[in-house]
Amino acid sequence: MGFKDTKRSKSAKATRVIAIINQKGGVGKSTTAVNLAAALGELNYKVLVVDFDPQGNTTSGLGIEKEQLDHCVYDSLLHDVPVEEIIQDTDCKKVYVVPATIQLAGAEIELVSTMARETRLKDLLEPVLDEFDFIFIDCPPSLGLLTINALTAADSVLIPIQCEYYALEGVTKLLESMKMVKSRINKSLDTFGVLLTMYDGRTSLSNQVVDEVKGYFGDKAFKTCIPRSVKVSEAPSFGMPVVTYAPQNKGALAYKALAKEVVKRA
Ligand SMILES: Nc1ncnc2c1ncn2[C@@H]1O[C@H](COP(=O)(O)OP(=O)(O)O)[C@@H](O)[C@H]1O
Ligand SMILES: [Mg+2]
Repeated sequence: MGFKDTKRSKSAKATRVIAIINQKGGVGKSTTAVNLAAALGELNYKVLVVDFDPQGNTTSGLGIEKEQLDHCVYDSLLHDVPVEEIIQDTDCKKVYVVPATIQLAGAEIELVSTMARETRLKDLLEPVLDEFDFIFIDCPPSLGLLTINALTAADSVLIPIQCEYYALEGVTKLLESMKMVKSRINKSLDTFGVLLTMYDGRTSLSNQVVDEVKGYFGDKAFKTCIPRSVKVSEAPSFGMPVVTYAPQNKGALAYKALAKEVVKRA
C-alpha cells in the first residue's frame, strides 16, 4: 500500500507543517517525532514524518531498515528525485516517513552552492502537502542550512526541552534563528508549542525546569510533560514507537495526551 491509499481525517483542516527543533542533541526531538506521529495516526490523522537528521533515528525508530533503502531525503533535496518515490510506509497506522540516511550528512555543505538553497525542502514537499493532516520535520542538532530549510518549510515549530540543568541554554539562539527566517523568508512562522521531556517528578530539578519554561513561554508550553521512562528508550531498538511497543506505559500515555493537545491547537 502506498501513501495515496489512505485518506486524511474527516475533520481535516489545512495541513500543519511543524518543525521539531532544538540545536541541542538528546533532548527528545526524534522520540517526539516518532511517538507524536504514531499517536496522531491512531487518532486517524494522516501523518508524514520527514527525517531531516543524518543520524536517521526517526527512520529506524519507525521500523525502516536504512540499509534496504534505494533513496533518502538527500536525493530529493539535492538530486530532484520526486518525494513521492521516497515516502515509505510504516507499521504505524497512517504514518509515513521521508527517510534519512547518513548520506544526508553531505547536504549541509552541498547546499551552500546550490540555487534556492533555503527553500529546497519547502519545494520538495509542495506536491504532497495536501495529502497529509500533519507533516513533522525532525531536525538535526544544529542551526545550519538543514535547519534553516526546515524553518522555511514549516508553518510553526515544536521545541522539546529536556528537564535538566541549563534547560533553556541555547533557546535564545534558536529563537534568533527563527526570527531571522521569519523576517527574511517565512513571515508566518510561529511557535506551535514547547514540550518538556524526560520529566522526573521525584526531583526538584525537573519541577524547577517546568516552572522556568512555563514562566518563559507561558501558554506556548504544553500542559502535557513527557516523563522519563526506560520503555521509551527501549522501543527504538525494536523499530517501534513506545506508543505501540508498550501502549500502557506512562511515556506512551503522555504522547497520546500530547497528540490530543496538538489536535486542539492545530
Ligand atoms: N521520555 C524519555 N524517557 C527515557 N528516555 C528517553 C525519553 N525521551 C527520549 N529518550 C532517550 O533519550 C535519547 C535522546 O532522545 P532523542 O529523541 O534521540 O533526542 P534528539 O532527537 O533530540 O537527539 C534517546 O536514547 C532516547 O531513547
Ligand atoms: Mg534526533
